[in-house]
Amino acid sequence: MQMKKKVYNMRKEGLEFLDRALEFYVHDGLDGVYDLYKDYSAYALETPSDLKDSVIEFCNFLNNNLYRIKRKYGCSDESILRAVASFKRSILFTMDRYMSEPYQNFANLVYELSPSKSKEKVFEVGAGKIPSSSIYLADRVDQIKTIDSEFYISKVGLQNLGVDSEERFFNSSSKIDGYSFVVGRCPCSAIKYMVEKCAQANIPYLIKLCDCELIVRKRNSGVKPTWGSVLLQADADVKIYKNFAYNLDVSEEMLDKLIERYDMNPTKKLKNLIVDSSFFEKIKFVEDEEPSA
Ligand SMILES: C[S@@+](CC[C@H](N)C(=O)[O-])C[C@H]1O[C@@H](n2cnc3c(N)ncnc32)[C@H](O)[C@@H]1O
Repeated sequence: MQMKKKVYNMRKEGLEFLDRALEFYVHDGLDGVYDLYKDYSAYALETPSDLKDSVIEFCNFLNNNLYRIKRKYGCSDESILRAVASFKRSILFTMDRYMSEPYQNFANLVYELSPSKSKEKVFEVGAGKIPSSSIYLADRVDQIKTIDSEFYISKVGLQNLGVDSEERFFNSSSKIDGYSFVVGRCPCSAIKYMVEKCAQANIPYLIKLCDCELIVRKRNSGVKPTWGSVLLQADADVKIYKNFAYNLDVSEEMLDKLIERYDMNPTKKLKNLIVDSSFFEKIKFVEDEEPSA
């Protein structure tokens, strides 16, 4: 049987970084592995297609260098191997989930509706740990900045993929000046602030709404409000249609067409992805791969 040819080789700088890092690296469980990969991502990523391969190379490197890893609380090789395997399974699953059609479709929808297209300076809020919609937009718009409370990839790693990033919560003191379009796909607690800030600064926005914030409010007050009642206080001119809040000059008919074209039904898509996922087979397949002779 012919082995699949491996196209990714650990980049020299990445290898040197890990080599240096292991001199100081003290294994302190799963979080430590995530932190180390995040630092490594600055050297390992040049294009989105490097994402999964970089994880595999990183895990192989750690597994092959167990003897160099210092241990907190005297943990065993076995527990380091378990943490690395768990990291690998989980981050590859997250990457598969994010680098998928629903996020590509959201990026397409944003692009179609963006007032200035390739000249657009987009600000995406709550894009997730792997901010794939921002990554998909990076090649198409003039500038993209993404903000979330946690990323699995470092600032430099995301910069290599064309995305400026800030790891923090978006709130009433966040700055959006200089951006021409503010967007979000289910950015929970940020929604109200996005609408408020955009209304104040007169910046176009498009937000796919989720229920999280409304559920929190119900827990606190006993009544579940509607997005309409919450957002009208932030922007008297907000338009809400089919789970989107926006202030764009676009008809509901046009929005309907685009929602249909880009199949904006994330729940259905994500469920299918999880149920049909050949994720575990993929992991096995990748592990079975041999470097080309
Ligand atoms: C439901 S997830 C959606 C993630 C991704 N956009 C998607 O559609 O799968 C909500 C994301 O918004 C982020 N988030 C929630 N509140 C936020 C805030 N105030 N500022 C920035 N990010 C926030 C969370 O960290 C999380 O990544």
